[in-house]
Amino acid sequence: MQSIPIGIITLSDRASRGEYEDRSGPEIKTYFEERLANPIEWTYKIIPDERDLLRQQLIKLSDKRIPLICTTGGTGPALRDITPEVTMEVCDKLLPGFGEEMRRVSLKAVPTAILSAQTAGIRKQSLIINLPGKPKAIAECLDGVYAAIPYCIDLIEGPYMEFTEKGSHAFRPKNK
Ligand code: MTE
Repeated sequence: MQSIPIGIITLSDRASRGEYEDRSGPEIKTYFEERLANPIEWTYKIIPDERDLLRQQLIKLSDKRIPLICTTGGTGPALRDITPEVTMEVCDKLLPGFGEEMRRVSLKAVPTAILSAQTAGIRKQSLIINLPGKPKAIAECLDGVYAAIPYCIDLIEGPYMEFTEKGSHAFRPKNK
């Protein structure tokens, strides 16, 4: 079975200074470890909410052909939140359906879901997905889009994801 590289970038001024422990990055790890049967090669960075640093990391990880890169944090209206804007800048194409669906499912959990400008897109052969910074938002959002991720990775000619029972509802159109 192929191994799957996955990148996590946590954006948090305070976590990057060590003032508190990042809990959202580990939530992303657990989410995919429970659903993918493949071995996963993790790349995990914690950075402050700085445009240049995020741009550099997204370019570096996608240049390495990491097929899935999840960011967490910095998607809201606060003055230092820049994650979706930088994601849109570096991507070759945008997949706005991810953000639309994540906000739709999140509204069932919190009325403030509309404050997230989270989006997704493709740079080279990487799918980049923005997640909000709250630990509980990770599964709430990924549950909305998980089923489409493996086929999206197929379409950008990434590695073939296989599933545990918990992840088996991922959808690939027939004969693909
Ligand atoms: N989405 C989910 N699923 N769960 C949440 O708790 N919090 C919202 C929103 N989306 C939330 C959510 C809030 S309060 C904010 S301000 C925005 O995400 C932006 O969060 P971020 O800046 O940490 O990315």
